[in-house]
Amino acid sequence: MRFSNTFLDDIRDRVPISNVIARRVSWDKRKTNVSRGDYWACCPFHGEKSPSFHCEDRKGRYHCFGCGVTGDHFRFLTELEGLSFPEAVQQIADMAGVPMPLADPVMEKREKERGSLIDVMEMATQFFQDQLQTANGARARAYLRDRGLTGRTIETFRLGYAPDSRNALKEFLAGKGVLKEQIEACGLVVHENVPVSYDRFRDRIMFPILSSREKVIAFGGRAMSSDAPAKYLNSNETELFHKGNVLYNFARARRAIQGPGRGDQDDNASGTIIAVEGYMDVIALYQAGVENAVAPLGTALTENQLELLWKMVPQPVLCFDGDGAGIRAANRAAELALPHLKPGRTVRFALLPDGKDPDDLVRDEGRAPFDKVMSQAKPLSEMLWSREINTGKFDTPEARAELEGRLKQLVAVIADENVRRHYQQDIRDRLNAFFQPQFQNRSSGERRSFNGNGNSRNGRDNAAKAGPKSPSLISDRLARSGPVRGHRDNTALRESVLALTVVNHPALMIDDYDEIASIEYDSRELQRLWSAMLGAAAAVAGPHLTREYLTERLEFEGFGALIKSLDQQVRNARLWTATEEAAMEDAREGYRQALAFHKRAKALRRQKMELEREIALATEAGDGEAIVQLMRAQQEVHFEGVRLENQEAIIDGFGVLSGRVKGAANH
Ligand code: UTP
Ligand code: MN
Repeated sequence: MRFSNTFLDDIRDRVPISNVIARRVSWDKRKTNVSRGDYWACCPFHGEKSPSFHCEDRKGRYHCFGCGVTGDHFRFLTELEGLSFPEAVQQIADMAGVPMPLADPVMEKREKERGSLIDVMEMATQFFQDQLQTANGARARAYLRDRGLTGRTIETFRLGYAPDSRNALKEFLAGKGVLKEQIEACGLVVHENVPVSYDRFRDRIMFPILSSREKVIAFGGRAMSSDAPAKYLNSNETELFHKGNVLYNFARARRAIQGPGRGDQDDNASGTIIAVEGYMDVIALYQAGVENAVAPLGTALTENQLELLWKMVPQPVLCFDGDGAGIRAANRAAELALPHLKPGRTVRFALLPDGKDPDDLVRDEGRAPFDKVMSQAKPLSEMLWSREINTGKFDTPEARAELEGRLKQLVAVIADENVRRHYQQDIRDRLNAFFQPQFQNRSSGERRSFNGNGNSRNGRDNAAKAGPKSPSLISDRLARSGPVRGHRDNTALRESVLALTVVNHPALMIDDYDEIASIEYDSRELQRLWSAMLGAAAAVAGPHLTREYLTERLEFEGFGALIKSLDQQVRNARLWTATEEAAMEDAREGYRQALAFHKRAKALRRQKMELEREIALATEAGDGEAIVQLMRAQQEVHFEGVRLENQEAIIDGFGVLSGRVKGAANH
């Protein structure tokens, strides 16, 4: 059976090619850049030791620089896995969660018809373009000139003019043999509930809207007079055009960021995609040299449009008017994006000066003022935070609790567990920084005076801007975590051992860096310590990575109290291998044991949750046999957990090897 290009494009667009390929290769951690959707691996088509096989989600293609194979999702499956083409399509459709099209003649006919509708749209585009150049179009030409557009820009965007007539286009197309039904199906005439159909667009500047394959699929028409009933009139939804799935200037913007040398550029305006509000904004920006702007089509940004942006870049910038309506639109977009965030994948917000759109901004002074706005784009987290703290005063515990509750609720919608965790952390840090100085001011007078006038309200503002840095809280929270007792505390102790051992013996990182970098802590303090530790370690060459260097850096970053309390904790538990004095071999052994337990315990916890979910499902389905089996499995997991904890208790004080002192092994 023949698949329509639309269908193939659709499923290819929905599945990152890395997902298809990842089932056959393991990515090279060093060369791969996940947040850019840029992956490297050893080529599965020819044997090799160093990775020269490359794939990019943005392009949906792979290429091996060693053996030269190249292709897309389907090619990968047909060539590597030996599937037939329809089987490959089936697999990608499954991954995309899209049903396969039925092999029916109606579909094929429809595909053909779409083809001919595209032809009709092309004819209409040329008609409008021609009209702009005739005597009829004189006013329209003058209008565009007044707005500063050059002939070249008009040509590039294929702008045109729909004459002030009820049937000029209709008759033009009929004269070319286009059927009445086709004209109607293109949305070029108004035909429902009227005795005689008539041209939809009259006396308007015409903006062709292109598909990602750069075919005209719709029009936006702008009235020239300010008293027209609608400033912009857009094509209705047709077989070709679903406005929520299309972005104006999509294909050209995508090309602009893929151009030679552009890919690595990270400066704010050119390395990304910018979503603005209007057609004219896109065009004016283009003329000013900003070629990577797109716009939705007369509606607020939709989820599908956001996905389109993310397919091109991990961090598109959404640009809004700085007035009330613009900020409301920005907030809606923020809420739209939240559930779909992924590690490295987010949106940023650029707010324009009050009452100006990008078109106004570049008209007189070129792109510089716009670039400035872009360079001040705010991260999503900050956007949400400032929205929430601008809603009132937080001078009572109740108000603060309410703020906290709202923020928590906001980030709870983030589907990705890791991103959610980091957002929760971010919020906690911001809240702490926001409220903390206030308490200090209260208890110790003007201990912190940020701007000399000792005004506590200002102090709070500054602290809020200072963002997530309030190390003084750490020791406090740890102090409350108390001595080591029971199940949960075993987890905490294990984590403390892991962290402290590495801090005290950074040489462990020489052999086990990847392993160490990927340790997942439950404790938030340790998560933060870890990212600071990895950052510090990355900053120096191996031989200089000493305990002294590391602890100094970490102390400087405010982790001194945490490290001290970790030390106390492991000493209380007599886990000498984690301490500074332990010999390297012992430290390594202790670290490996702790890591093995840590991983096993985590796996068990995951298994336990998985089983609980399945039991709930089976219970719902009333499947008695499954329930019995699952419960048996659950018990196994439980016992293993108990065994694990006991075993650990035996090793507890695994002073086992200890007694040795640093360096003593050599003597
Ligand atoms: P704006 O009112 O900001 O228009 O609407 P604009 O793009 O700045 O256009 P100019 O500069 O006045 O010519 C932004 C977008 O909203 C949609 C259009 O897509 C427009 O580009 N819109 C606006 C409509 O669809 N219908 C309207 O009546 C107005
Ligand atoms: Mn405008």
